[in-house]
Amino acid sequence: MRWRRSSWGVILSLSTLAMADPTWPSPNDELEEIMYQVEGYRARQFGGTVIPCSSEASGPGRHNAAEWLRAAFHDMATTTNLGGVRRGGLDASLQYELTSSDNLGPAFNTTLKFMAEYYTSRSSMADLLALGVYYAVRSCGGPVVPITGGRVDAVAAGPIGVPLPQNTAFTFEQQFTRMGFSRTEMIQVTACGHSIGGVHENEFPEIVPVGSTANGEAPLDSTVAIFDNKVVTEYIAGNTTNPLVVGPSVRATRNADFKVFNYDANVTVRAMADATEFNNVCAVVLKKMIDTVPAGVILSDPIEPYFVKPVNMQLTLNSGAATMQLTGLIRVRTTNLGGDSVSGLTLEYKDRSGGNNCGSTNCKYSASLLGATQGFDDQFVWFPIDAVISTSTGISSFAVTLHMASGADQTFDNNGNSYPIQDAILIQKPQSCLFSGTSTVTAAVRNDRKSLPVSMFISYKTPTGNPNLPVPRLNNDTVLMTEGTCVGSYTFYTATYAGLGELAYASRIGVTSGSGSSALSDDFNAASELAGTCRSFQDPPSSLCTTGQASTPPGSSTTSSVGVTSSSTLSVDTTSSATISSTSTSPTGPTETLYHRETLGGYTLLGCRTESTVQGVRALGGAAFAYDSMTLEACMNNCTGYIYWGTEYGRECYCGDSLHQTSEDAPLADCNMVCGGDATQYCGAGDRLELYSTTASQPAPTATLAPKPTIPPYVRVGCYTEIPGGRALTGSSYADDAMTLEKCAAHCAGFTYWAAEYGRECYCGDTLDPLSEPAPEADCQTMVCAGDRYEYCGAGHRLELYRLATATSIPRV
Ligand SMILES: *[C@@H]1O[C@H](CO)[C@@H](O)[C@H](O)[C@H]1NC(C)=O
Ligand SMILES: *[C@@H]1O[C@H](CO)[C@@H](O)[C@H](O)[C@H]1NC(C)=O
Ligand SMILES: *[C@@H]1O[C@H](CO)[C@@H](O)[C@H](O)[C@H]1NC(C)=O
Ligand SMILES: *[C@@H]1O[C@H](CO)[C@@H](O)[C@H](O)[C@H]1NC(C)=O
Ligand SMILES: *[C@@H]1O[C@H](CO)[C@@H](O)[C@H](O)[C@H]1NC(C)=O
Repeated sequence: MRWRRSSWGVILSLSTLAMADPTWPSPNDELEEIMYQVEGYRARQFGGTVIPCSSEASGPGRHNAAEWLRAAFHDMATTTNLGGVRRGGLDASLQYELTSSDNLGPAFNTTLKFMAEYYTSRSSMADLLALGVYYAVRSCGGPVVPITGGRVDAVAAGPIGVPLPQNTAFTFEQQFTRMGFSRTEMIQVTACGHSIGGVHENEFPEIVPVGSTANGEAPLDSTVAIFDNKVVTEYIAGNTTNPLVVGPSVRATRNADFKVFNYDANVTVRAMADATEFNNVCAVVLKKMIDTVPAGVILSDPIEPYFVKPVNMQLTLNSGAATMQLTGLIRVRTTNLGGDSVSGLTLEYKDRSGGNNCGSTNCKYSASLLGATQGFDDQFVWFPIDAVISTSTGISSFAVTLHMASGADQTFDNNGNSYPIQDAILIQKPQSCLFSGTSTVTAAVRNDRKSLPVSMFISYKTPTGNPNLPVPRLNNDTVLMTEGTCVGSYTFYTATYAGLGELAYASRIGVTSGSGSSALSDDFNAASELAGTCRSFQDPPSSLCTTGQASTPPGSSTTSSVGVTSSSTLSVDTTSSATISSTSTSPTGPTETLYHRETLGGYTLLGCRTESTVQGVRALGGAAFAYDSMTLEACMNNCTGYIYWGTEYGRECYCGDSLHQTSEDAPLADCNMVCGGDATQYCGAGDRLELYSTTASQPAPTATLAPKPTIPPYVRVGCYTEIPGGRALTGSSYADDAMTLEKCAAHCAGFTYWAAEYGRECYCGDTLDPLSEPAPEADCQTMVCAGDRYEYCGAGHRLELYRLATATSIPRV
């Protein structure tokens, strides 16, 4: 392979870059993650109820995948096109139409409720319904339906008029013409939509008599949970059991599929009897279905997975304000690397004026492989970023160089734009918090780039209070932030927003400096990442304001929201108008009775410990809880039976029988957050566990039991089921009373997959039997390896599954 290097160190591969990445950031970034991060590390879990296709997560006979496909159709099917102006279409108006006789049964209610969890200002319900079609069809083995973004949600019910089984063929055609579908497309979309699932007794007793099926559902073809063309081949062969073709529906003239399929003398369905043709036709016609949108809505190009994508990039002023932390992840797609793989990457950044002066660093940060993620057709690996940036020189953008296992380097610079990072305004998450529906947000604004107004934008959800309207309302508001203390070359601004209600944690928060086209923002920050208590800013510079505009002179401010305690910390406190003070009491309330509890129930305080440094892995990996009323007693009760438990961030509680090896001792003073439910107790802090262990036995707090994300050159896929009466991996096997993951990996060297099972068994293979399915992670956390009690080796009928990091196939049908 030939590489060409440009002045930026940019190397263009002549073969793998055929399709350029979108320029980052893109309006579809959120949808892209939901679409492609299907399983594995940082999976978005959107497939939770539709993977596998046979999932009946909502009850017997209810195939959620089929319900999702139907939901999108019912949503768009009432569209009208009057005088060339389309009204309705895929616009999530379904959420207002659940009580209509068009939409019988629980399917749409359930679908909308599930998807509403993903509803944000960057992922409309209509886009999520479209994405649901991709998930449902692909999970069932059907074709890729290309997904565009940009749909706009309706604010009220649309017209009625979903095609109903009792309609005549003539009426069906009228309805599909209204939708913009030809007769042929009507037949095609009906066949594609009826490839999976069935008809339910409860909703259609004239078609499926109550009590006539085992689970309430009569399938539309013999493969109820496979997206294939059996619905047409069995119809043509005359042996279909489709209740919309044969059975009671005939006499009741509700044999809708017969009426539709037969309307052009079977010409269209005969063409679809070819399996490839069926898939091709379905991809086109289902795309047309979900791309039918109201006039004025502009859809994006189809969403493709990035090759290189920065995710959750965040700058945060470190204590003392001399440095900032750049955190986040770089996700790299490894799908078509042709046997090569990515072994590491280097992020090379520019200072804030676009130059190469990075203070004490050389403008470079190297990251190593963390975890792997699978999409339906793609694989990704992740590289965590945790770089220290000098505040005086700052950062403006970065480029990413991938180090390939083959030895080649490949640099990505966001299509020549570099990946932009602005350091003019940052949300300071440690100094921001969310408690009881009230969020206090702190922004750090660079003094030499301060541009007014400094404001906070919040997008938040409120339940409708009506069980027939399952999608919460998405509201937004902008509030001015109040200027606080200057720290070094930045000034803090704060704002408090109350009344966020029970869905407060689903809020997204942005901070902006300036207005119009010159405004800069740190946007779309998840409120769920904020702690229950705002942390003090540690060690503010003694000379407070070092650059830019003058700060408010000490003592003269009456509106400052920042106070200084004698312990030389700045504590953001918007509930009082504290000014700079040198008293010895904290401005945040009484401290007399606040102390660390040495013992509690059958547990003693081990101290303040750091969280695990492995992203996505907790120091205590057992159970986890979070609620505003957290107390030590509540956490102890939540963790009954565990050897360890600890509280964190004021409102979180973790349990475990072992402590991750990367968790370290920290000063007790680090654990300085008051428990949400008891102002006299400490509940850890950000990244700090207030850790207790049982007095019954006192194991050394160094155990490290947790799933291992990588056993090079293999990456962990997850916990999978063994197949009924057989083996999911059939290449080679052995058992060993000293089994470890490393031993199994060594035994299986050369194979694509290997897995440990039942603590002492090891299986290898180049393919995974399609009947092996993802199982809950907890299933694989019950048996440790016979030869290493700090590793998990599967369980009965459960595989702790690994695959070659370079492998390109996904373990699914
Ligand atoms: C239907 O008939 C076709 C052709 O005779 C046959 O191949 C198929 O297996 C039959 N399907 C069912 C479900 O009976
Ligand atoms: C279409 O196929 C069905 C099922 O085989 C059959 O009953 C029907 O008569 C066919 N229609 C025509 C016009 O041939
Ligand atoms: C939707 O589900 C809720 C329960 O979650 C139920 O109370 C409500 O009646 C359902 N609405 C419809 C229209 O089915
Ligand atoms: C904020 O809410 C208004 C009114 O509900 C809406 O029109 C607007 O699009 C929202 N803005 C954003 C950025 O979500
Ligand atoms: C955890 O403790 C809280 C507070 O006592 C309680 O409300 C909750 O039900 C507990 N959860 C579990 C699963 O024990």
